[in-house]
Amino acid sequence: MSVDQLNIVNFRNLSNTSLNFHPHLNLVLGENGSGKSSILEAIFFLAHGKSFRTTKVENIVSHEHHQLTVNIKDHAVNSLGISKNLSTNILTIQVNGQRINKLSDLAKNIAVQIVTPESFKLFFGGPKERRRFIDLGLFHVKHEFSKKWSVFNKIHKQRNACLRKKVTKQELAYWTGEFCHYSQIIADDRVEYIAQLQVELIKWLDILLPQLTDKIKIHYSQGWSAKKRLSEVLNENYEREKLQCFSIAGAHKFDVKFTLYKQPLDLVISRGQQKLFLLALTFAQAKLIEKVKQVKPILLIDDIGAELDINSRKALATALNSLACQTIVTAINKVDLMPLLEQTIAEKEDNYKMFHVKHGEISIE
Ligand SMILES: Nc1ncnc2c1ncn2[C@@H]1O[C@H](COP(=O)(O)OP(=O)(O)O)[C@@H](O)[C@H]1O
Ligand SMILES: [Mg+2]
Repeated sequence: MSVDQLNIVNFRNLSNTSLNFHPHLNLVLGENGSGKSSILEAIFFLAHGKSFRTTKVENIVSHEHHQLTVNIKDHAVNSLGISKNLSTNILTIQVNGQRINKLSDLAKNIAVQIVTPESFKLFFGGPKERRRFIDLGLFHVKHEFSKKWSVFNKIHKQRNACLRKKVTKQELAYWTGEFCHYSQIIADDRVEYIAQLQVELIKWLDILLPQLTDKIKIHYSQGWSAKKRLSEVLNENYEREKLQCFSIAGAHKFDVKFTLYKQPLDLVISRGQQKLFLLALTFAQAKLIEKVKQVKPILLIDDIGAELDINSRKALATALNSLACQTIVTAINKVDLMPLLEQTIAEKEDNYKMFHVKHGEISIE
């Protein structure tokens, strides 16, 4: 699904508004604090049910209001809507006018990916963000991945609760069996997905970081030693687990890392290169989602100018035009958008739309 129309009510500093986006490229210009990131945040919130900036929904509801609403429509008849009421704490979700209960039933209709100036720090900063990134791809690409993940999480919780109660190995056996079974199912999905991602990533690194394309290596850990069965690992570590009261290995410990000349990638490349790398990874993921779902993902790029020099922005423009997904890019200065604007116009006149934001008011140039 792409966003033809976005309706926002009581979201951050944005005036209640209805915006029509271009199916290819949308550029949003505005000074610091004008509301650029908030526009992206509204779309992200609709697709994920949460913000990329805060875990507290009360932060994103406009001051002195208690309910926010975000709706989108595509060019056909499809619509998605989400509304959060702070007074009742009720989240209302709608797909094509029908109320639904599960956020995942809304989320499977739309694939929104975001790259902000903080993304690469988060991504290289710890396994949680890397897992979230990879699992977002799996959610869209692998059949029923979110169901499997949610079953695994329930089992994981039960098993940890048993460990806290200091049950015997025999009493724990049922949950350990289920835990190993689902960990393996998830590990199999992830290994297959990472292999696909690796192939796709090379194509985008070729555009964005050509000098490093074949030198960057991917390493992943399924969450336990690849040389052993998970049941063996848990059996050997029962006493330690009982002491620590949590499962020390399993699908929840999955991580993926990247190296260059055997060194962690983030320690040997610049911040600008880290951002380009994350963009390449995001585009690779977008392509995989598109191939499987036949739904073009929507890309949000916040503050395109941050960390990127003119040549990097030229390379990014080439990649974005080749990706051909609906994209919304924000920038503080028009000059930050220049390579992208020039390359887009060179391919097709009027293949974009430009917005200005000032004190939360959005206008079209
Ligand atoms: N809940 C809220 N209600 C009203 N205004 C808010 C709320 N949260 C943040 N703001 C204000 O919204 C403005 C826009 O923020 P942001 O979208 O991050 O701007 P930009 O990305 O253009 O720099 C900021 O000035 C901020 O103070
Ligand atoms: Mg911003």
